[in-house]
Amino acid sequence: MSNNLAVVGLQWGDEGKGKIVDYLSNGFDAVARFNGGSNAGHTVVTENGRYTFHLLPSAALNDKELLIAPGVVLDTEVLKDELPLVKKEKVLIDSKCTLVTPFEKEFDAYIEKMRGSMAIGTTKRGIGPAYAVRALRLSPRAMDLFSSNYDMRSFAEFYRAFGISIDDMEKWMDNARKILVGLLGDVSERVLDLNESGKRILFEGSQGSLLDILYGSYPFVTSSHTTANYIPASLGINLAIDRVLGVAKCYSTRVGSGPFPTEIKDMLSDQIRELGQEYGATTGRARRVGWLDLVSMRYAIRLNNNKEVAISKLDILSKLKELKVCIAYRIDGSETENFFDALPRLADVEPVYDSLDPIYGYDFNSGVAGTLRKFVEYIEDRLKVKVSLLSYGAGRSKTVEL
Ligand code: IMP
Ligand code: MG
Repeated sequence: MSNNLAVVGLQWGDEGKGKIVDYLSNGFDAVARFNGGSNAGHTVVTENGRYTFHLLPSAALNDKELLIAPGVVLDTEVLKDELPLVKKEKVLIDSKCTLVTPFEKEFDAYIEKMRGSMAIGTTKRGIGPAYAVRALRLSPRAMDLFSSNYDMRSFAEFYRAFGISIDDMEKWMDNARKILVGLLGDVSERVLDLNESGKRILFEGSQGSLLDILYGSYPFVTSSHTTANYIPASLGINLAIDRVLGVAKCYSTRVGSGPFPTEIKDMLSDQIRELGQEYGATTGRARRVGWLDLVSMRYAIRLNNNKEVAISKLDILSKLKELKVCIAYRIDGSETENFFDALPRLADVEPVYDSLDPIYGYDFNSGVAGTLRKFVEYIEDRLKVKVSLLSYGAGRSKTVEL
């Protein structure tokens, strides 16, 4: 699929994928969300204001075909709020999508409470329970809302065990049906058709590679696959995606619990949080802040096999007089550059830093030169990738393609 592009996060989510998808989508005919659900918060800033998308692809404002893959778990209440922003005929949601019911949102909060000090810090959007209940084969799919064979009452015992009234569930089903009417279809087929007719598709990832359910910092992860290798599985197509762009912020953030090797524990983290407005787009929580971590990024790049990287939020870095980059982890006195080796001990690793020339005071209007050029080349050299895009602000104009 040489016409197509995947955009994925190389960190813990919030890399700035939303802005980059919005910016790049001009060169594409369709944009497809392929993982997660309304836990995502993709922010796009235009001349008309600031928009956060949780379910619709971040190209929603660009009059593109908007696709939601079967592998996404769908919260119709959230979708309802986003639909007024787009032309309905541009939206196609796969009818195989698993629905997130109110039960799953309650269950998410309940499990988090049960975990106590081991809470994941989920977005409480019911994502984990939705994927789990799907695996138990108890979830309704979008298509089931329109099927006369589907009887929610046959699951009454299951819901009753959790104190959920089947009447309430049926009311919710009626509402969900009204929201989805006219929006469902076969996204897998649509992607193949578009591809065959030479149309270009952008696949938009949510969360980051290190939050992948299988490859990330389990159990402090989300419940879907967040890496590019999930795209064919989620869509039900078996086509290779030639171009993968991995997005990384020039520092790191993490929202929720779990190990974070390069976390900054002093006041500098507050400074960066304020400068970068590092607050969750879905939950408003303060994000934890740290330095760029090339060890975990190299691992993410291997997972995604991306040859290209986009680096975001360079404007924030240009306000800092210090610039550090983690190049190895120290565990029990020995150093490793291999994230996999560190995975079982991630909470205990000590980052080894390289101090670089800060890009303090950099004037982005002067092109990519000096300290910024050096920083870009340093990353390219260390990670053996091409840095093909830089972002230095939320607006579309604050982007450079290299
Ligand atoms: P869940 O996806 O709501 O189950 O949350 C699991 C973990 O992933 C928590 O640490 C969340 O904060 C994190 N997470 C989920 N979605 C996002 C996202 O879009 N950006 C950043 N972190 C996320
Ligand atoms: Mg986000």
